[in-house]
Amino acid sequence: MHRQGLATMGLSLLLSACTPPQTPVALPYPPSSTTPTTPRSLGRVEVSFTGLGTQVYASNVRSLDSNINGQALTKVAQGLQLKFNSKGSFDVGTAGSGTRYLYATYNVRNAGMDGVPSPVARSNLTFVAVDASSPETISGTAVRNFKRFDGSGADVTLAPKLIPTVGMTLINGIPTVNASQADFQALTTAEASGIGQPAGVRDVFQYGFVVRNRTGSGRTLSANPGVDQYDGLVTFAVRLPLQANPINDPYSFSLVFEVVEDSANRVTRVPEETVSQAQSRATALGASLVDGTTICRVRVAGPVTSPITTLYDLGVTSTAAGGGNGCYDAGVASLRALATFPIGVGVDGGYEAHSLPSTPAEQKIVEKHFSQVTPGNIMKMSYLHPNQNTYDFAQADELVNYAAAHGIGVHAHTLIWHSDYQVPAFMKSFSGDKAAFLAMLDDHVKNIASHYAGRVQSWDVVNEALNDGGGYRQSLFYQHAGPDYIERAFSAARAADPDALLYYNDYNMESDANKLASLTTMLDGFKARGVPIDGVGFQMHVSMDYPSVNQIEASLKQVVDRGLKVKISELDIPINNPYGSAYQSGDIKTAYTLDLGLAQKKRYCEVVKAYMDTVPASQRGGLVVWGVSDPNSWLIPFLFNNRHDDWPLMFDGRYHDKPALRGVADALTGQACTTSW
Ligand code: XIL
Repeated sequence: MHRQGLATMGLSLLLSACTPPQTPVALPYPPSSTTPTTPRSLGRVEVSFTGLGTQVYASNVRSLDSNINGQALTKVAQGLQLKFNSKGSFDVGTAGSGTRYLYATYNVRNAGMDGVPSPVARSNLTFVAVDASSPETISGTAVRNFKRFDGSGADVTLAPKLIPTVGMTLINGIPTVNASQADFQALTTAEASGIGQPAGVRDVFQYGFVVRNRTGSGRTLSANPGVDQYDGLVTFAVRLPLQANPINDPYSFSLVFEVVEDSANRVTRVPEETVSQAQSRATALGASLVDGTTICRVRVAGPVTSPITTLYDLGVTSTAAGGGNGCYDAGVASLRALATFPIGVGVDGGYEAHSLPSTPAEQKIVEKHFSQVTPGNIMKMSYLHPNQNTYDFAQADELVNYAAAHGIGVHAHTLIWHSDYQVPAFMKSFSGDKAAFLAMLDDHVKNIASHYAGRVQSWDVVNEALNDGGGYRQSLFYQHAGPDYIERAFSAARAADPDALLYYNDYNMESDANKLASLTTMLDGFKARGVPIDGVGFQMHVSMDYPSVNQIEASLKQVVDRGLKVKISELDIPINNPYGSAYQSGDIKTAYTLDLGLAQKKRYCEVVKAYMDTVPASQRGGLVVWGVSDPNSWLIPFLFNNRHDDWPLMFDGRYHDKPALRGVADALTGQACTTSW
């Protein structure tokens, strides 16, 4: 919904006291510095927003100079005049999970209250948010007068969730930065501390809004402006979460700012903005672009001395439409460098949309972090073996060749799998007895495995041959040949490619005790009969809350105890669990938030830690995550039927790190699993 308020008359506000013009005081810091050293405080103002979410949405501003002990704004030579210019507001998403965006812009004149123009030009005037004791702001934030529609106080815990941003408009449902209203500036903790604590201020936060020159470029307001010559413009903008019940949404609030002259001339990129957009904005303002990592964590509440609990993230968006802002940096130079066993990822190839050999953005991530790929689809039965006498290796070869050229191994998947969409039609219509069927399957396995002999590290020889709830799956293969097809396939694969590690691969063995028991029975039989198997792949399509780490460890141990290798072969952890009671009663997460991302980080870490703790180094066959980026996860169509987004992987839709990546790195390096940033 896009709400644009009534055109509002210009509210003129005069921000200075009635003292006569005086000689400007020299600034006490070197103007060439890029880091502001002790920026000079000019006084304090309060910017108010009222009528939020209604047609009477309005903003105004007033001086709080009576509280500032005669500092700068009371001196005419350092005064400012502000005049209301425009405002805007819109909501994205829905109650409970959406966001409301607001902005108000003010024209700025370099003149005192009496209208006497300042005799000096001024640059980088910045409205820095402060926690003030008078007038009292709430919850250690810059917010005061925090009210709901009925006039009662709004939930004070929401105050730190009013996140500073830039002026935006809604274009095709996407909040889009309005470059001429992008005046938000993040400060480092040191810079904010450098502003000091002017009288009546408890804390200076790490953000402010910078006045730009609206007639020319840059951020300088020239000396001696004419009558009504408002050279400057500043945009105050915030976003706030929409409450589940709209009566709890804030209806009005004010923000308190200390106005400082800042020696640094920088532009901060906001999450909604790309680096190149921010760069061109910086160029237009004659400013430098602040490194993205410093702006993703802005302290909007609490004292500088306890920043961790009070940091509020600016950069958590990740949408299936391909969003994500790169604010999170997992600090992982290369995941593969952290393990002595294969670190793999399921990838697309050939005809698929994100085919690795033809998707450079995906290649960058894969080459950086992974030592192995598993083709997610293109090495399945019908793609390689469409007709009884026809093999088609073109798509898979392209992927295998790409991997080889980049020093990446291949875990091939899969020689035999029941899933209907990939069983070749000729197998479905096969007529002939058990011996003929097994001979046909022998050929299938032999021809494919020998084609890739020496080019793949390992094979999923048989995938998902066990039933949920125990016993053998009554698949096409089972119907023709009983369980014998499984061991025949292993023998044929070994004969065709003696060097590849041969895996049995399945899901839910952690959560389904009967299925696990069927697995161990099968493995014990293999051992007794000398069936050539090297390991078991646990797909590990798990949830945030299920199964438990204990269940995972106990299931892996069953295979460890049999001396086989263990591979986590298809790990993914969706935020939503469609089988969980919360989800069933309607608690569906439709937006990815920092808290969810950090909880997911912990869960990723715990699953990988279970693997590290349970599987001795010599038996670790590898860790494979099933997909590179969230929007391309198979779970969105398969588990959630495209009903809503989910974010099950380690990279967002723009291939930025997610906290999950840090979680895996922590587990690989023996760090504790936490929800910290
Ligand atoms: C999935 C792929 O990821 C999808 O792209 C495809 O449409 C269906 O198969 N267990 C497996 C994988 O062993 O082969 C499945 O892969 C996911 C479940």
